[in-house]
Amino acid sequence: MSRISKLRKALQKAGLDALALNPSPSLTYLTGLHFHLMERPVVALFTAAGQVGLVLPELELPKVANRAEIEPFPYGEDPSAWGNAFRRAAEALKLDGARIGVEPTRLRVLELRFLEGAMPRAKFVSAAEVLASLREIKDENELAAMREAVRIAQEALRAAMRSFHEGMTERELAAEVVLQLLRHGSEPELPFQPIVSAGENAANPHAVPTDRPIRRGDLLIVDWGATYRGYFSDLTRTFAVGEVDEELECIVAVVGEANAAGRSAARPGIPAGEVDKAAREVIAKAGYGEFFTHRTGHGLGLDVHEPPFIYGGNGEILRPGMTFTVEPGIYLPGKGGARIEDDVVITETGAESLSDLPREIWRLG
Ligand code: CO
Repeated sequence: MSRISKLRKALQKAGLDALALNPSPSLTYLTGLHFHLMERPVVALFTAAGQVGLVLPELELPKVANRAEIEPFPYGEDPSAWGNAFRRAAEALKLDGARIGVEPTRLRVLELRFLEGAMPRAKFVSAAEVLASLREIKDENELAAMREAVRIAQEALRAAMRSFHEGMTERELAAEVVLQLLRHGSEPELPFQPIVSAGENAANPHAVPTDRPIRRGDLLIVDWGATYRGYFSDLTRTFAVGEVDEELECIVAVVGEANAAGRSAARPGIPAGEVDKAAREVIAKAGYGEFFTHRTGHGLGLDVHEPPFIYGGNGEILRPGMTFTVEPGIYLPGKGGARIEDDVVITETGAESLSDLPREIWRLG
């Protein structure tokens, strides 16, 4: 069944008459089209009856030239005429008075105002769950793209670490990681800027690379990912520069056990929260519970953070084809931190890790 047919069914089931999307991974998922988010609105309208309309600037028309199933509603450069394009779409697709789903984390006030102006009696509600239900389960093509994104990331890291030397700064190593990602075939739009954090900086899970030199005795965290056909990978490994103190050595081992516990707990039919629980218990038992300050993971695909979210108490049931990260960490303020992150897919019987770089402490220098 095509993605548009699946969407139709899901809209009907959710009691929605239509879906309105601005440029976003969901729009790409449903249409294969890419648009940049800019000052001019681009809005795709999908009706539960199966029609697809697209309000867009005239200059973007070539993108839909061979797409008979998409009805374009183009507008010119004069902003005072843009509202008119939205009104033509609303009329053609009979949207006034409709219940219209939107993506609350994506649709901007810009697009919402045009939609409201063109269909004053329509009701706009969240379609986050409808879209999650479609995008969460990856098909073979999507999984192949994610495997390739993981492969590129792993090869790129191996290459980047070959140029590591003591005294190199976090920023220099981060630049090397980006360079190698591109060289190894990542699309230029990386999932995120790599995190490279050493010593006390590694105690901050979302550190930004600085000019701090990476020295003997540091734990070093590298969190990086590649993009392939729009799909992302997101991995983390922890390195030791020379000998590190016993406690730092210990937290890397504990995080490694927690990562393994999370991966082996993951299976179809259980709540996502169980994966978080399995990883968290290992860290709590070792006495570091209060230093594991974030959720165990997040869904991964065309977005770096998408459902299913792996946090304590999340009752969402895992199903075959779901992909997410398992990334427990321990962060000791002023001293250092450790995180080990893999990307997994739920199979018929358990979970398979897409990533296989060694997870034990990597000794540098
Ligand atoms: Co992550």
